[in-house]
Amino acid sequence: MGLQRGRLCWPLLLLAAAGSGILVALYSTVELHLGPRTGARNSTSSSQAFFGPKASNSGTRKNLLCQHALSLAVQRHPRFQNLFNLSTPVLLSGDLFTQQLWDSLSQHKAPYGWQGLSHQAITSTLSLLNGSESTRLFAVSRELLPGCIRCAVVGNGGILNGSRQGQNIDAHDYVFRLNGAVIKGFENDVGTKISFYGFTVNTMKNSLISYSNVGFTSVPQGQHLRYIFIPSDIRDYMMLRSAILGVRVPEGTDKGDSPAPTGPSTATAPAPSTSPRSTTALAAPFTSIVGPRPQTYFGPDSSAGKFKLLHPDFISYLRERFLKSKLINTKFGDLYMPSTGALMLLTALHTCDQVSAYGFITSNYQKFSDHYFDRMKKPLIFYANHDLSLEATLWRDLHKAGILWLYQR
Ligand SMILES: *[C@@H]1O[C@H](CO)[C@@H](O)[C@H](O)[C@H]1NC(C)=O
Ligand SMILES: *[C@@H]1O[C@H](CO)[C@@H](O)[C@H](O)[C@H]1NC(C)=O
Ligand SMILES: *[C@@H]1O[C@H](CO)[C@@H](O)[C@H](O)[C@H]1NC(C)=O
Ligand SMILES: *[C@@H]1O[C@H](CO)[C@@H](O)[C@H](O)[C@H]1NC(C)=O
Repeated sequence: MGLQRGRLCWPLLLLAAAGSGILVALYSTVELHLGPRTGARNSTSSSQAFFGPKASNSGTRKNLLCQHALSLAVQRHPRFQNLFNLSTPVLLSGDLFTQQLWDSLSQHKAPYGWQGLSHQAITSTLSLLNGSESTRLFAVSRELLPGCIRCAVVGNGGILNGSRQGQNIDAHDYVFRLNGAVIKGFENDVGTKISFYGFTVNTMKNSLISYSNVGFTSVPQGQHLRYIFIPSDIRDYMMLRSAILGVRVPEGTDKGDSPAPTGPSTATAPAPSTSPRSTTALAAPFTSIVGPRPQTYFGPDSSAGKFKLLHPDFISYLRERFLKSKLINTKFGDLYMPSTGALMLLTALHTCDQVSAYGFITSNYQKFSDHYFDRMKKPLIFYANHDLSLEATLWRDLHKAGILWLYQR
């Protein structure tokens, strides 16, 4: 959230100021509207109260219907029933690749497509996502999972500082985290469980740089953890491919990075393009690696099933239906995309039965620091690459519709 992109910072800040003004204005109406309902607050003060009794006790859950499935709340809601299509494929795997898909996605820029990206780089990456695990988020097919799948998505918002929500978060079946997901030292507030880690290579590396001082010195790893790549750039396809092959990134911005611990240090992925440049890189792997030892990100198990790739069409669908920002038609249009947190929360909403959102932007965000792990209180800044006020409105409305439960205080 809010990672700035170089020189654009100034105009973005101006826009940001305008954005928060709109948000504040919006929320003063909302507070009035919600005023008389305070009596009902107690029943929505925890996700368990909101969704009803927890149905994940392994012994009984098989026979329990999911009484508070978000799909039911979607069906009942006049606006959201027309926005949600819970059959939309969330992930892109090799078996979905066709010439038709190539032709269609070539017309859109990343993260919505492949315009300007090398056919060879895309196909060589997707061909590695050829197992059944690449087609779905959960280890077994969704239809075979009994009972309610309860997911928590943990954003990094300052609202979690001092929240003591750790146990509640960990009580969910699956926990999604993203970007600078610092856990050590914040266990009481954010829990420790992590099933999915979502990122773009850009946000992951920025997080490692910006938050190393608060302990985010490595990307979360674990036997059961799965990584969700957001394909915002060719870098994401290159890193994903190298991660599965267990080799260094052969070219581009992340050249020389070793996504997983590799064997011999000379191991370099055969470059997916045939440009003269990459031939040179292949011929001289030692000289291509300069400076500090390249980072390893994802731990020793680099089997393809460990990595998931969001479908560019899913990201387009989310933008068109849920997060169609006014920024799209400004000069920042090419920069705009839903935030990593928004993409993870909407991914969970399209794959889980119940979703709780922790650490996401709320109407009173100004009371809290930007991140829960900030040492000093820092205001949340609205940059033009995301539309956090639009996202805040969406979370509020989804909460009111009973489709998700938003942690607020
Ligand atoms: C709501 O909870 C507060 C304390 O958290 C309690 O004082 C109040 O009586 C409760 N109200 C209802 C309607 O249960
Ligand atoms: C929902 O998505 C599926 C898969 O893309 C598609 O086949 C179906 O037509 C869509 N349904 C609606 C109502 O748009
Ligand atoms: C997927 O592709 C790899 C590399 O081409 C191959 O070794 C593997 O057997 C394939 N797996 C499946 C399930 O087709
Ligand atoms: C975190 O919360 C504590 C109190 O629980 C407060 O003293 C501290 O200032 C907060 N940190 C930030 C960065 O807001």
